[in-house]
Amino acid sequence: MKFVVTAGPTREPLDPVRYLSNRSSGKMGYAIAAAALEMKHEVILISGPVALSPPSGAEVVRVTTGEEMFEAAAAHFAHCDVFVMCAAVCDYKPARYTSQKTKKQHRPFSLALEPTRDILASLTNSPHDCLVVGFAAETEELRESAQRKLREKNCDLIVANDVGRADIGMDSDDNELLIFFKKGAPEKLSRAKKTELARALLKIILEAREKCLTKKT
Ligand code: CTP
Repeated sequence: MKFVVTAGPTREPLDPVRYLSNRSSGKMGYAIAAAALEMKHEVILISGPVALSPPSGAEVVRVTTGEEMFEAAAAHFAHCDVFVMCAAVCDYKPARYTSQKTKKQHRPFSLALEPTRDILASLTNSPHDCLVVGFAAETEELRESAQRKLREKNCDLIVANDVGRADIGMDSDDNELLIFFKKGAPEKLSRAKKTELARALLKIILEAREKCLTKKT
């Protein structure tokens, strides 16, 4: 099967030396890509800037901004069996990029930001054949927010994680996942290394894909 996995943060530049971004390390997405390769699937890994070596065998597409990630994802979305949107995409970008380094001023300074495109929602809003796996990064009301994102972003399943805890989630080697489906009870994957969780998650994804195919035939 052909997997497309997005991973890591995006970066939105303000000037030649500064950018907006987030703490995503890319570890979860890279672990999912590695788990799919271990199971002999084909993997296209669309990666934001991270300090990780890609798993061998993956076709890697390196991107920086949200728009670059969208272009890369859109190019592969129609041709994959499973699309995993694990990247932590910046929700805002500077309204203006200045081509010279912004000089410090000795007074308060505020930055005008504008929303970025929601990559997942833009891709899933037209008919498609692949199984769509979203992620939900939450610090509160994890269940409610994840279920809302599952519906609003038209995912087949969504993987929620608590990014407010220091011991798991963003930038950590460990995570704890709660997986919500369109129908049926959620599944919990208790705290473990992201590499182990990725293998367990992959099984769940493949079962969901199987069910989806059975439904269509
Ligand atoms: N996502 C995306 N494009 C964005 C923002 C998010 O494709 N501009 C995707 C993420 O990759 C993830 C899902 O949407 O699969 C949910 O992302 P999350 O950060 O949890 O939620 P947001 O939609 O950004 O909403 P909020 O920040 O308000 O929780």
